[in-house]
Order: sequence, then structure tokens, then C-alpha cells
Amino acid sequence: MSPEDARAEMARLAREIERHNRLYYEEAEPEIPDAEYDRLFRDLELLETAFPDRADPNSPTRRVGGGAIQGFEQREHPVPMLSIDDQFSEGEMAAFFARLQKGLGAERVPVTIEPKIDGVAVALHYRDGELDYAVTRGDGVVGDVITENVRTIRRVPLRLAAGAPSWLEVRGEIFLPKQAFAELNQARDEAGLPAFKNPRNAAAGALKLLDSREVARRPLDFLAHGHGRLEGFAPASSLELVEEMKRLGLPVNHPQWRAGTVEEVLAAVRELDHLRHSLPYETDGAVVKVVDFAAREALGTTARAPRWAAAYKYPPEQKETVLRAITVQVGRTGTLTPVAELDPVLVSGTTVRRATLHNQDEIDRKDVRIGDTVLIEKAGEIIPAVVKVVLEKRPPETRPYDLFAEIGGKCPACDGPVAREEGFVAWRCRNPGCPAKTANRLKQLVSRKALDIEGVGTIVAEKLVERGLVVEPLDLFTVPEESLATLNLGTEAEPRVLGSKNAAKIVETLGRARDLPLHRWLFGLGIRQVGESAAKELARLHANLGELAASVILRELRTFTTGQRKDANDLLAPYGISGEVGPTVAASVVDYFESEAGAVLLARFGELGIDSRSGNYAPFAAAVASDGPGVAGKTFVITGTLSSPRDEIKERIEAAGGKVAGSVSKSTDYLVAGEGGGSKREKAESLGVAVISEEGLAELFAAGSAAEETEEARDPGEPLHP
Ligand code: IVH
Repeated sequence: MSPEDARAEMARLAREIERHNRLYYEEAEPEIPDAEYDRLFRDLELLETAFPDRADPNSPTRRVGGGAIQGFEQREHPVPMLSIDDQFSEGEMAAFFARLQKGLGAERVPVTIEPKIDGVAVALHYRDGELDYAVTRGDGVVGDVITENVRTIRRVPLRLAAGAPSWLEVRGEIFLPKQAFAELNQARDEAGLPAFKNPRNAAAGALKLLDSREVARRPLDFLAHGHGRLEGFAPASSLELVEEMKRLGLPVNHPQWRAGTVEEVLAAVRELDHLRHSLPYETDGAVVKVVDFAAREALGTTARAPRWAAAYKYPPEQKETVLRAITVQVGRTGTLTPVAELDPVLVSGTTVRRATLHNQDEIDRKDVRIGDTVLIEKAGEIIPAVVKVVLEKRPPETRPYDLFAEIGGKCPACDGPVAREEGFVAWRCRNPGCPAKTANRLKQLVSRKALDIEGVGTIVAEKLVERGLVVEPLDLFTVPEESLATLNLGTEAEPRVLGSKNAAKIVETLGRARDLPLHRWLFGLGIRQVGESAAKELARLHANLGELAASVILRELRTFTTGQRKDANDLLAPYGISGEVGPTVAASVVDYFESEAGAVLLARFGELGIDSRSGNYAPFAAAVASDGPGVAGKTFVITGTLSSPRDEIKERIEAAGGKVAGSVSKSTDYLVAGEGGGSKREKAESLGVAVISEEGLAELFAAGSAAEETEEARDPGEPLHP
């Protein structure tokens, strides 16, 4: 066969295969048996192997996945991918419709109503009818390029029908059908792998796989619901757009209703509520969109979402199940949390087996008893909660649940004494050496937002404590590598050791963790009231841990009552602190460092030679304020494709005392522009904002650290006064 003939034959086979794909997926009416389809497929593969330089990159064979790709490139959306405003009641929906009427000065406003698909938003860019690239929503401005993975989704056409516009950006959702989700989890169960929490996570996880062959094994699906950039095609309405998308072979979201009045909208929303559970994918709402594009233009958008669309969120699904037992968990600070053990039940698409009951007061309030039938829903569609007891179904022999009595007055993890602090509803284990507490504190220290010690997960943390290698979380830094390597994660009967490779990796990561900035350590220490944001703000106020322990400003701050919040804010304003740190946080931090535990901790840091420094210390930032050299005190916007992930660059800027904003405005100091990045660059240029490259940013970092050294030399560690 000549190369030319081969090319023609490959094209014919590709068209044939795509046609059968369409018949199979779109029309559910296959013309040929699977074996014959496979034969066509193999013929095409053989030809492509024989004539690789004539093979089409958009060949249907590419759907099986081309193997590993290196990380993900990032790309800016030519039109931002906005969010959508949620409406939580029919009243709110009616108010939205009234705003449309007012904004357009019309009584009737033609809109469509369709299911909100609980999937992963994606933009597919077709250039001259060929799938060119696919990008995730990302932060709405920039997303990950996931073309290879999207190619594996059979429902996504790689090539559109004849007469496609020169550029068509199709927006839609990639999702895992409910059925496929259930099967996938069953298979994972059998293979001893952890189950996915919900279909959306499974889909998102699949799309982030770096090996597209793996992606091809997940039966992902796609439906289109909108557009981004269009060239060579200017539809006047969404109806025209949908017609054209269908004609081009794109699967379009359905069912869809049309309405012109608020009554019609609400009727459609109610109808969809009945129907949605029988749809093949998860839905949590109905999307209402204005049909006419000129009307959309007139209504405009806010920074976050268009004014011409809204999502009606259905109240969470509620299911009944039986509460078989109540177990008690011991948290990081010793809090005893009762947890309901339930008969497994499917709620809003996931199987629920456990739900927190929070504390004794909550149990009393709801009068929850073992053996009760309870009503379960998922708060925010994620966290299962017991709504109430179905009293009519209460068996005769139940009795009120008393946590203290059930645990015999002792911590279920260590048999230590428990107590209820004044003003608190929760019982707490008072044993400072309780292994459950230590394991949870260790988990906090190694968590991603703290020291990020990847090799130490739940089981490793628990075993380290159980085997006595870690008594205090910081002991992790002195566990010998051999002890880590031989740590038994299994049982006496069935030992399973961590291994020397993993041990070496943990030791190496720990070495690097020593130099992480103060806020990461602070968050990891798990001091009460100190979450991620508070930790960052505390690090703005203090150069290192010693300074924090002796803090003058926190001692002043803790004397304010909640009513004096404004005074507290005034005290902090010069440091650019925005409100996470107030009297409560201050009191908690001061109490901690004045306690025995705090003193021991500081001594331990000294012994280990760990001297974590603030990466965003405000006085440094102030000293090199907006007109000084460096990054501190400046506002940056990042655009285009850069050599390292955006999050990383953002973190570096923040660590150096700078800020990163999402869009260019007058207060932007620098636009860091990589390749691409058109609209932001234009905006920056029009506002006279400096546009710099990555190298330019590196120079700013260098200038900043030079300034910082001078500052440090002049004024070492003087306590802060406002
Ligand atoms: S239209 C931006 N229609 O919901 C306004 N969006 O919160 C136009 N989504 O990430 C959006 N199903 O990807 C539209 N039928 C549907 C949708 C839908 C799911 C997603 C969308 C976006 C999010 C907005």
C-alpha cells in the first residue's frame, strides 16, 4: 500500500469508527456488534503503526490514551470561566427573575432551564473542526491543559461535522455516570483500593491522572452546556448555538425547558426535581439562563458570575437509616466526639456509613439513641449529618445515650481521666500523653498545609505513637531512620514494614521541613484557635517562634473584649492584618506559651536546632513599602504560561510579603506575564501597570532579600509595638 493510499484508508476507518461511536453513544442504536467495531479499530491501529508519519493526532485510536504526560501545562481562558450565583429558594429564584425583567425592561424574558451537572467544568477548543486543546476551569482565568485525557472520553468528538466554525470553544461538564461510579467503587473495593467519595471526585481524580491510559479505563462522559470564544460563527441565541452544536456532533446537555415567566420557570424547576434522580449523572440544581445573547450582553456580569444566569439549588436529599452503634473518637486536643455508626445508605450519590453527632448536648437535643431510625442528609452535599430521629420507628427497648457513662468515665483510647471544661460542651481526655491525641497532633504537624511530610499518613502516624517512637509530635525529627524502615504497619501476625526507601524519603523531607516558614509550623502545632489564616497573620506580626512566645502585641490584644473589636483592628491595621487574629486567638496563643506544654515545646525547638523564620514579617514589608525594591508590599497579577505552577509562584510572592490578585487594576504593581496571557497584558498596558517576565520577578526577589538583610542587621528582633 502506498503511503497516500494508507492515509486515505486511515481517514475512512476513522470516519467509520466515529460514526459507530455516535450511533452507540448518542443514539444508543449500534449497527454493528462489538467484535466488528474492535476489528475496525485494530485495522486502523495496524495502519497507524505501519505509517506513523501519516497518522492523524486526532485519530479515534488516540482515545485509548497515549501514556504518561509531564505534569500539566497551564493556559489562560480567552473568555473567563465564571461562576454562577446560587438561589436557595423559590423566593430567591423569583427575585432573580424580577431582576432580569427590570434589567431588560420586559415582562417576558425567554430563558432555558436545564440540569446542573455535578461534574468537572472543561473548555474544549475546536479549531477548524478539530479538537485542538482542552482546559479545566482552574481558577476561572487559567486552567490545566488536559487534552490527552479528554481525548480518551469517547463521547467527546475529536473532529466535528463539516462546516464547523474556525474557532469553537465548547464549555461543558465531564462526569462519571452514577452507574459507572458504583461499578468503579465496587471494583476498587475488590482490589483493596480506597473507594471514591462521590462521582465528581472520581471524575476530577481521573482527569488529573498523568497517565492517560489510566484515564481511558474510567468511563467518563461529557455534556456541553455553553460556549466561550467563537470565531466564524455568531449565533444570536443559546437556541441557535445548541442547534449548531448538535449538528456538529456535540452531545448537548438535556432535558431542557423553555420559559418566559417566573411561574413557568418554577414549574420547570419542580419538574426537574422529580426527574433528576433518574438522570444518569448527579445533579444538585437547575441552571436558568437567558436565551438571547444581546440580552445577556445588556445584563452583563459581576466579577464572579454573569447576571443572566442562576442556579436553583435543590435542598439536600434526606434518607432514613438505622443507627447501630455510637463510637467515641479522640481528637487532637483530646475532645471526645461521638460518631453514629449507620446501616450504609446512599445519600446524594454517596454511601454514608458514619455521621458525627458532635457532642452530648447535640445528642440530648435530638434525643438520639442506639437502635433509632434516623434521617440523614449531607450538609453542603458533603458531610453527612443526622437531621433528626424518626420517633415513630423507635424500638421499645431504647434508652437515652450518656457518653460519660458509656465510656465508663475514661478515655476510650488511653483509659485516662476525662473532664468537661467550664463553658464547653465537650468531654476531653485529660491525659497529656494520650496516644490518640498525640497521633492526631502528629497528623496535624505532617499535614499538607503544615510540614507536608507526604510519607507520614494516618497509619504511619498511629503506629509511630503506638510503638512508642513518638511521644510528642516533634519526636518525629529524632526517630532513627532504621526504626522508621522497620516500623510495622501491620499486625504481629501479619507484619508489613514501612521499608527503607520510604524511610529515607521521610527523613529527607523532614530535613527540608526545618526551613519552612513560621506560618506552616504554627499551623502544624495545632494550637487551639490557630488555623491556616490566623497562622499567616501571626507570622506577619512576629519574626520567629521566640518572638511569638514573648509577644507584647498579643498580650495587649488579649485584654480587649469582643466589644472592642474595632480597637483591636486599629491596633493591627499598621501591619496589614485583616481580622483573623483577635482577642480570642491572642488569648489562646499567649496561654499556650505560658503553659508547661508551651515551654517544653520552645525548649524542644532549641534542642532540635529548628529556628523557623517568618516569611511574611510585616515590619520588613513596611520597611520596603510600595516604593521600595523587592516584592514586599507589592501587588502582583500572574498571567500566561510560566515555568513553575502558579500556586508555587503565588506562595513565593506571599512569603516575601507581596500580594497576588486575580485581576489587573489600578492598584496592581506588576503583571508577571508568561507566554500567552493576552487580555491581562492589554489591560495592564492600558493602565500603565509594569509588565515583567519571570526573570524580572526573580530580580525583584533578589532586590527584596538584599533589603531584608539590611533591615535585619539594623534592628534584630526588637519586640513589636504599634
Ligand atoms: S451554564 C457561568 N449550565 O456550574 C455561567 N453551567 O457554578 C454559565 N455547570 O463551573 C454556566 N451544569 O461548569 C451551566 N447546565 C449547566 C451546568 C453548568 C454544570 C457548572 C459550570 C460551572 C458551574 C457554575
